[in-house]
Amino acid sequence: MAPKSRPPGQLSRSAGADVPCHKYASPVIQQSVLSLLRRTFSTVYSDPEMLAQTIQSVKGHLYARDYAAAFKSPDYLLAYVVRWSPSRALAYLHVLGDLCPLVPEVLTRSSQKPNNTKNILCIGGGAGGEVLALATLANELDAKNVNILAVDIADWDDVFVRLHDGIRQGFGWDKKDDSAKGIIELRFSQMDILDVPCYLKANGGKTMLTTDGDVQELESPHDNIDFGSLDLITIMFTTNELFAQSKPRTLTLFGHISENCRPGTLLLVLESAGSYSHIQIGSKTFPVQFLLDHIMVDDAAGWEKVVNDDAVWFRIQNDLKYPLELENMRFFLRLYRKI
Ligand SMILES: C[S@@+](CC[C@H](N)C(=O)[O-])C[C@H]1O[C@@H](n2cnc3c(N)ncnc32)[C@H](O)[C@@H]1O
Repeated sequence: MAPKSRPPGQLSRSAGADVPCHKYASPVIQQSVLSLLRRTFSTVYSDPEMLAQTIQSVKGHLYARDYAAAFKSPDYLLAYVVRWSPSRALAYLHVLGDLCPLVPEVLTRSSQKPNNTKNILCIGGGAGGEVLALATLANELDAKNVNILAVDIADWDDVFVRLHDGIRQGFGWDKKDDSAKGIIELRFSQMDILDVPCYLKANGGKTMLTTDGDVQELESPHDNIDFGSLDLITIMFTTNELFAQSKPRTLTLFGHISENCRPGTLLLVLESAGSYSHIQIGSKTFPVQFLLDHIMVDDAAGWEKVVNDDAVWFRIQNDLKYPLELENMRFFLRLYRKI
């Protein structure tokens, strides 16, 4: 809950205390994001009682931190996307557009790659909040040739297709002529991102070294992610879940990211601020962002911290219209850049 000292509708102290502009938190742009979601998922609101019940069930699983249960059925996924993704999309748009000026820079700069493509990977991004925020930002900036790939362990395929179509219609991208087609590509791939132990090149093909030391043929869809081609990786409210699933495999993932990303790649991590994000290592408990700073920056993995805040408040402004509750959010923010 927001502290009483600050009136609702007011933007918080933020990581961008020295960033004067809060353009992407303006009510006009934020309302446009909500309206796009409302149009895209209009059928989901048609039975408010049923929706309220489903939301309650999802809430119960989220509260119990049973994420597999929270994301297990199509109804639950739709309920999550209309109930939680809107607030998140608004917060992420503000973070990406206002608090992390390097992100708009990446979206609009000329890249060395063929077609001047900018590649973005959203880990745990199936629910679409960060995808919608990135698409909105790209649209606002008139960015070209941006590929956004969301990967997620849950089956967000159907929801993502709807969001994809809603975004394209909402921004008029579906009406662009052939020469402008494919400007911004949004894709989803269902995968367990922790299914990436270290890779070895053997016999000309890819094999993987399992955690117990066996070498196996690599079948993981992970193989499709070329971390070396990425300009930006986002991990929004997913880090805690990854560590809860497996600390060693999550550390391996961050190691893999560090080894394979090229200089200039940005890694954006947001997660609940406070004790919810504490992690136990041996007999000690640390805030998860301290662990991340340690493994990415202090441990010579080759990253620098460019934006850093342990508690950003994002508050919903008063006049926004949306049929369901919108939530204030408080999170830690880390933007790392590969040196
Ligand atoms: C709390 S939700 C956050 C969703 C979204 N990033 C947001 O901020 O609204 C965490 C997401 O991470 C996904 N996830 C959890 N474990 C994963 C894994 N091992 N690989 C890929 N995705 C995972 C979940 O399915 C879920 O969609």
